[in-house]
Amino acid sequence: MIAGKSWPQRVLAGATLAVFILFIISLAAPRGAWGLQESKPDTKPGEAAPKEAGAEVSFSKDVLTLFKEQKCTVCHRGENPSGLDLMDEVAYKSLVNAKTNDKESLMVKPGDPEASYLYVKLIGPGRDGTIMPPKGKMEDAEINKVRLWIQQGAKNN
Ligand code: HEC
Repeated sequence: MIAGKSWPQRVLAGATLAVFILFIISLAAPRGAWGLQESKPDTKPGEAAPKEAGAEVSFSKDVLTLFKEQKCTVCHRGENPSGLDLMDEVAYKSLVNAKTNDKESLMVKPGDPEASYLYVKLIGPGRDGTIMPPKGKMEDAEINKVRLWIQQGAKNN
């Protein structure tokens, strides 16, 4: 189609065609394929912004406070039907490397939120019963605190 033209015209025609093809490809390519996306879609609680991920979560100041704010300790205290005591003095021992009621998994497995039944119960109903707290799922930011604490090694800090 461009035969017979002088070489500058050929070069020009070739370049125009190349730009056009690139343009079409860029329209057809899925969003993000060119690294133009500002940030990855982040729906998973815990995949927090780097700033938040860097801050150390304290068990006593953050997690235990959350349990009180969320009234977890109204039900989870002493000898209760749920079999989990979240009162200050015993909460750490009841959670970290402790078996769940059905002995299927660990309540908190340090470094591994997905394998920690506490975290599973906060994002969904778990194997049985309901989501925790039963009145409804907590805010993502609150669930993130627990997730980060587990991810950071579930320290007794
Ligand atoms: C209204 C009472 C009530 C409140 C408030 C409550 N829970 Fe529970 N929780 C229960 C009962 C009853 C069970 C046992 C049945 C089940 O697994 O759903 C349970 C089970 C659990 C389990 C699983 C225990 C196991 O070994 O299977 C976890 C973990 C848990 N709760 C964490 C929490 C946390 C954290 C909060 C606060 C954010 C909370 N719960 C608030 C009543 C409550």
